[in-house]
Amino acid sequence: MDKVTYQARYAEYAAATERRLEELCDLYLPGEARISRAARYSLLGGGKRVRAVLALAGCALAGQPAERALDYACAVEMLHCYSLIQDDLPCMDDDDYRRGRPSCHRQFDECTALLASDALLTAAFEVIARADASAQSRVEACAALAEGGGARGMIYGQELDMRYEAEPAGVAELLALHRHKTGALIRAAAAMGCAAAQAPQPVRQAMDRYAAELGLVFQIVDDILDVTATTEELGKPAGSDASNEKTTFVTLYGLEGAQKLARQHNEEALAALNGLGEEAEFLREMALELLERKK
Ligand code: IPE
Ligand code: IPE
Ligand code: MG
Ligand code: MG
Ligand code: MG
Repeated sequence: MDKVTYQARYAEYAAATERRLEELCDLYLPGEARISRAARYSLLGGGKRVRAVLALAGCALAGQPAERALDYACAVEMLHCYSLIQDDLPCMDDDDYRRGRPSCHRQFDECTALLASDALLTAAFEVIARADASAQSRVEACAALAEGGGARGMIYGQELDMRYEAEPAGVAELLALHRHKTGALIRAAAAMGCAAAQAPQPVRQAMDRYAAELGLVFQIVDDILDVTATTEELGKPAGSDASNEKTTFVTLYGLEGAQKLARQHNEEALAALNGLGEEAEFLREMALELLERKK
């Protein structure tokens, strides 16, 4: 797939997600509540929508219309957004900018930000429960999101992330941290796309292997960009990791070492797609774009 076709499809998926997120906000986060306003502020305020696109592309890979996964795609973005709001809080990374604007607790206040993030987390599961899909599909999507977002997934990763501000970490610890804090939710997105399509087992396994590697690459690149990009480019504070004295692949291996590791895991991601046919071309291009991304 050439870059232009890829970019057009990505933009289409992201725009569909954006439209549906607005509708879902009207349904589940309505009214004048300050919490709803704060949740909408963070959720509808930009973002690359990588996890949504992955869910939609996973559904298409399994031979079903991508739109079938649209509510699941929105649910994973809601949960992701909750994790970002909390990640920025003073007790975590203490970052004042997110998606090019003041982070939620800066625009509102800490208490509102915390409750708004709770509301997004909760709404994510209601969105799945009420989606226009079979009971089997919805149960699978709920379980995948809970597993990837919960105490065996992203939340545990965040615990490890905070722990290694205080304690030294080696390569094995850092890999486990990345797989949990970022990889787990990216795997969930892929699994939710497969659930929407009721994909056959071999497709699910391949998507899972792909997403696990993609997630790792995504966080290694995030750590690289924290050092190489500007706050303006990122829309969030560059240098946040260094100011929090985090251990990252850049602190362990240096920039070139981290880049090399990202390329290695990207190769693994691409290998997982072998034999999956034409539709896998989009995912192949997506892996390359995320490896080379600048924001
Ligand atoms: C940021 O995720 C947090 C990480 C897990 C690295 P994204 O880079 O996907 O953030 P948005 O959604 O595009 O703002
Ligand atoms: C956050 O990792 C991962 C989450 C679970 C939110 P980072 O702390 O590196 O994400 P950014 O750089 O603030 O987006
Ligand atoms: Mg963090
Ligand atoms: Mg952070
Ligand atoms: Mg980061």
